[in-house]
Amino acid sequence: MEKFFNSTTKLLQLPVHVHSSFLHIPPTTSSVTISVVFHTFFPGTNTKNMFLSSRLLGRSTRNHAFNFSKCKNTLKKRCEPLDKTSYRKTNFDSLKYVKYFGTIVDGESPPKTAIVMLNMGGPNDLDETGPFLKNLFNDGEIIQLGPLQDYLGPWIAHRRTPKVRQQYDEIGGRSPIRIWTEKQGQGMVEILDKLSPETAPHKHYIMFRYAAPLTEETLLQMKADGVKRAIAFSQYPHWSCTTSGSSMNHLWRELKRLNLGEEFEWSLIDRWPLHEGFLNAVTKRINMGLEQFDESDRDNVVIVFTAHSLPMRVVNRGDQYPQEVGATCQAVMEKLNYSNKYIMAWQSQVGPLPWLGPQTGEVIKGLASQGHKHVLAVPIAFTSDHIETLYEIDIEYAEEAEEVGIQLKRAPSLNDEPLFIEAQADLVYNHLKNGEVCSSQYGMNCAMCVNPTCRTIINPIGNYNRLRDTAKGVQTPKVVNDLQ
Ligand code: FES
Repeated sequence: MEKFFNSTTKLLQLPVHVHSSFLHIPPTTSSVTISVVFHTFFPGTNTKNMFLSSRLLGRSTRNHAFNFSKCKNTLKKRCEPLDKTSYRKTNFDSLKYVKYFGTIVDGESPPKTAIVMLNMGGPNDLDETGPFLKNLFNDGEIIQLGPLQDYLGPWIAHRRTPKVRQQYDEIGGRSPIRIWTEKQGQGMVEILDKLSPETAPHKHYIMFRYAAPLTEETLLQMKADGVKRAIAFSQYPHWSCTTSGSSMNHLWRELKRLNLGEEFEWSLIDRWPLHEGFLNAVTKRINMGLEQFDESDRDNVVIVFTAHSLPMRVVNRGDQYPQEVGATCQAVMEKLNYSNKYIMAWQSQVGPLPWLGPQTGEVIKGLASQGHKHVLAVPIAFTSDHIETLYEIDIEYAEEAEEVGIQLKRAPSLNDEPLFIEAQADLVYNHLKNGEVCSSQYGMNCAMCVNPTCRTIINPIGNYNRLRDTAKGVQTPKVVNDLQ
């Protein structure tokens, strides 16, 4: 039910002072009724925003009774690390002046350029672990379960929830990805407003694939804010059809489903494995990681670049991820002047099917058997901390390393690294300056792709071609109507 409160406060942008008894909404209440009631209590509400919020409210309230205290705690948790002034507790039962980050306030001009930060997302509290996993295992573009996806996906998610929930509990009770993405986005647009006044004001939006804020929520917010020009900026530096591809395909499907295909003009920043600023930021974080070792040991540290693995059936389809991750590692080592020995490894495999290796845990044990004593793990395809760094590397691999006599340290994730935030701004700045629709490689489907949604762009800012369409002599239409 937190969606109820988030969407309401976000879209209404009004001081909220309500009693919990008022907010206990029976599950059968229609969105129209809620809309009318809120309009009565909050006169002056923008009708367009009210309509949009009532859509979201209607979807939520049919399934849940409102739990005010849970919602209050969730909202407090979300706002506190980002903006301490955005949440003020007035008494036991009420919230006052809830200002949700990321929405323009009445009177402000609409953003001229929206930068939509696409990423996987993660649970914002422990109770979101189940829904997060359900969304993840329901996505056939990342986890392919064939015709049984709709049944097996929720079942696997349900079975895995207690274990994963426990892991989130051990790393602070939530995924930090939203906090870091918010900080990165805010820093990026501040730089962009100075760098590129002609495309300002810039505004960042977070669009997660499996956790709030989901694609629909963000699109409705963008519409309410009056956005016209939008850049879909993948926060995965390296392209994979299971990550960036899934996020973008879902974006195109949602635009069509919500009938927003003509609302925004899109361009894409779909990959950036060799961006100079990104490489510099990673290099700096590796040097910070090396400094954690005694000076006398530093030259003997083996750098283990570790990225999320892929099922081999995805690799064999022609996915571009392994080569792009490898290119980043090589370029970073060049910047380090090959100061240390290094190896590439892959982590987070699940299930019995074959995955891309070598596995990070096995690499650590293998290095120990060869007599190595010091290892620096470098999370290379992640741009902020999340469960794979904070739990898998810092807890699981650290324990395994200790057992085999390896001193394991981890390079700090990019998080709020200033060089990285500058790199994000530079990527967007150059993208705007060059009037680019997408990278030339975006038009290249996996050789064995059979998914018609892949490489679509709904309403792009200029012409583009999918390789598949070009080969057939077909012009890709400006608004695609053949999405599944
Ligand atoms: Fe890679 Fe479709 S699965 S382009």
